[in-house]
Amino acid sequence: MKNFLITGGAGFIGSALVRFLINETEHTVVVVDKLSYAGNLSSLACVTENPRFKFERVDICDRAALDSVFSQHQPDCVMHLAAETHVDRSIDGPIAFIETNIVGTYQLLEAARHYWNALTGDRKKNFLFHHISTDEVFGDLDDTSAFFTEDTPYAPSSPYSATKASSDHLVRAWLRTYGLPVIVTNCSNNYGPYHFPEKLIPLTIINALAGKSLPVYGNGQQVRDWLYVEDHARALYTVVTRGKTGETYNIGGHNERQNIEVVETICCLLEELAPERKLTGLHNYKDLIRYVTDRPGHDQRYAIDARKIERELGWTPLETFESGMRKTVSWFLDNATWWQAILNDRYDGERLGLKK
Ligand code: NAD
Ligand code: TYD
Repeated sequence: MKNFLITGGAGFIGSALVRFLINETEHTVVVVDKLSYAGNLSSLACVTENPRFKFERVDICDRAALDSVFSQHQPDCVMHLAAETHVDRSIDGPIAFIETNIVGTYQLLEAARHYWNALTGDRKKNFLFHHISTDEVFGDLDDTSAFFTEDTPYAPSSPYSATKASSDHLVRAWLRTYGLPVIVTNCSNNYGPYHFPEKLIPLTIINALAGKSLPVYGNGQQVRDWLYVEDHARALYTVVTRGKTGETYNIGGHNERQNIEVVETICCLLEELAPERKLTGLHNYKDLIRYVTDRPGHDQRYAIDARKIERELGWTPLETFESGMRKTVSWFLDNATWWQAILNDRYDGERLGLKK
């Protein structure tokens, strides 16, 4: 049994990972999260009463607080997910991304390094720092037959991806220079339950149910490679338990779709699963689609070659795009209290026309 320190555990992917660790394994978990606008303890409601779960409200930029968390909880493994993650916000205000993604990762690395240096024997030998990153560090692809491999050079486009790329470089430097045992994973776009309402898939579902327009940036032909979040959580656990220290693993779902196809898929699922929720007079959910001004610097295509993790660690996704999207739309229909509370109470959804 190990003790996992999960940063960003109250976010979308972090909470899926924590639910997996508590519900599917015997390990103990301490979540470190500052509860930014994107952090939500209600995403962890099903595990908070479990004695193997602990929560520390801490900003990863606060080195003294991190030192105290390490000394109090004595983790065997750090899984670092805390980050600012929304590309559009990074365009509006990059500083928060520089602070959390770069400076915060630096502070966490230093806290981990000092803690690890003081460990001895097997606890020192088996310690691991797993940095969770994105395929967006590779920039974008225009050739429809090309894929991102673990050796693709970094070429980030947005303030978000540039700060994630910086954090990846810091993590690898801490391995090379100080010997800190690290693993890096770079994953494609996730979707699924508890996805924050500003991202494409939840925004489309929630706006459609409210009879609001469904904004598609530019021509809608940009391609993302979608992975169901629970498949990602399982991949992360596979990597920390079976991966090789010092290695990088790409994680992806083999589900390339144009944005417009994603939005149309959601509309079709809503026609089937929620026909009664359609506004009177609306012929079809698809009638709500609106092409809007493109995102500056918009990446054209992301596509992951995930053969390394499949070959070396035996991980493959369980969900297809069709099965995962059906589960996701159903979850948002069944869990309106989760997203409605975010829209009502804490989230500046006005910016995206989401507020009730
Ligand atoms: P999210 O925005 O839903 O959650 C981020 C979490 O980090 C929140 O709980 C937030 O409160 C916390 N946080 C932010 N700043 C913090 C700080 N300074 N100190 C402590 N906690 C802080 O993000 P997500 O979509 O779950 O992504 C998690 C990680 O996975 C990120 O590192 C992201 O780059 C990476 N990733 C995301 C995707 C995706 O499609 N969402 C794909 C690949 C990789
Ligand atoms: P997003 O969910 O923000 O993830 P990322 O930018 O990390 O890929 O966006 C997914 C894609 O959908 C991206 O190409 C931008 C596009 N998009 C829209 O067309 N409309 C929207 O309202 C949003 C939020 C995104």
